[in-house]
Amino acid sequence: MYFQRYKITAATIAVFIILLFLYLTNNNKDAFIDELELNTNDKSTNYERFFAIKDFHYTLKASKCRNHSSIKALFIVTSYFGNVETRSAMRRAFSDDDLTQLQFKRVFLLGLAPADKYTKQISVENESKRFGDIVQGNFIEAYRNLTYKHLMGLKWAADNCFNAEFVIKMDDDVVVNMEKVPVLLDTFTPLTNRLFIAGYVLRNMVAIREPANKWYVTRKEYSPAVYPTFVSGWFYVTNPKTAGKLHKLSQTTEYFWIDDTYITGVLAQKLKVKHFDISRYYTEHSEYVECCLDDIRNRNLNCDVLIGPNGGNNNLFYEFNNAIGICNLRLCKNRTRPLNETCVAKKFIPLGRGMSQIRSYKLH
Ligand SMILES: *[C@@H]1O[C@H](CO)[C@@H](O)[C@H](O)[C@H]1NC(C)=O
Ligand SMILES: *[C@@H]1O[C@H](CO)[C@@H](O)[C@H](O)[C@H]1NC(C)=O
Ligand SMILES: *[C@@H]1O[C@H](CO)[C@@H](O)[C@H](O)[C@H]1NC(C)=O
Ligand SMILES: *[C@@H]1O[C@H](CO)[C@@H](O)[C@H](O)[C@H]1NC(C)=O
Ligand SMILES: *[C@@H]1O[C@H](CO)[C@@H](O)[C@H](O)[C@H]1NC(C)=O
Repeated sequence: MYFQRYKITAATIAVFIILLFLYLTNNNKDAFIDELELNTNDKSTNYERFFAIKDFHYTLKASKCRNHSSIKALFIVTSYFGNVETRSAMRRAFSDDDLTQLQFKRVFLLGLAPADKYTKQISVENESKRFGDIVQGNFIEAYRNLTYKHLMGLKWAADNCFNAEFVIKMDDDVVVNMEKVPVLLDTFTPLTNRLFIAGYVLRNMVAIREPANKWYVTRKEYSPAVYPTFVSGWFYVTNPKTAGKLHKLSQTTEYFWIDDTYITGVLAQKLKVKHFDISRYYTEHSEYVECCLDDIRNRNLNCDVLIGPNGGNNNLFYEFNNAIGICNLRLCKNRTRPLNETCVAKKFIPLGRGMSQIRSYKLH
């Protein structure tokens, strides 16, 4: 009798312990998620818990870099979940086969769909099955989650493509003269084993403290007045070693949502990563890219612009890279006057009721 009672008690205690354990772990998880929500909605909250997310995992994985193939550069391209068109335009410009010929490989970095969006996870899964070039993490697409996406790309590069000589981080709305990239990369060959980042270097940038600004940052998020030297996240060159170290350091460094500032600035400074400025190859105006394109087609002029924004035109990457081939067929001349003196941009001004006006203006 005593024995039986003891047995019941033991079983009860065991069940109780299991229930308590389940309750606690569940409760913890909920608390954690609540805190995430809270943190991301409240601009003044400290993000300390956020970077430390323990359950990060890939929801979709791209095909790895094969060990035996030599890869000059792995492109990690941040792309918004719903930008299906942009990704397909980039694939149209350079298919995987085209990229392989150049010893390049490209993966797109995505987050999870925000609940209200039209594009569904199933169609991105389809895209992933078809092209094998999507890396997706279990965080929701959001402006303030971009650091996650960027870090995920660096981690993926370091874990799955260590044999690549270079890693190029870029955004999907950037136009790149792909033909000139190998020449650009060659200048960095001596740095293969070093920690470096080459890009559009930004120095002494002041943290913006006006709440109305898109880049508003509280002192709690980032206390110093000035950011460390960093590069624009549009397009920069690094290597798998640097990528791996940056990601690793992020695990023990407080999260900050401005991704390029945090990763290529705050983290890079701690690691003493050397910055190289290649801003002379960039333009900030998509109009310059269009002018360059026009000049190749109509005036047989070489284009010096390597990197620029697409101005919302998904086809610009394709058109620009297509046009570059023209100069290989018929010799193009060098420009005598710089783009900023000759380029007349055209602005499309909608007037309502289906009417619009195209107005020309000079850029500088
Ligand atoms: C590549 O090589 C590493 C070790 O050198 C090995 O762990 C990995 O499985 C290999 N990957 C492939 C895809 O062969
Ligand atoms: C996914 O692909 C399958 C077959 O390849 C197709 O039948 C289905 O409609 C696709 N779904 C979406 C949402 O694109
Ligand atoms: C960032 O991702 C986390 C994890 O999925 C999510 O809980 C959070 O809401 C996202 N942030 C924003 C601002 O949406
Ligand atoms: C055109 O410019 C490039 C450098 O930008 C130079 O190497 C080349 O010699 C120039 N060609 C002519 C024909 O001047
Ligand atoms: C065009 O850019 C060059 C430097 O690239 C600069 O020296 C020049 O002043 C600019 N011209 C105009 C009209 O802005």
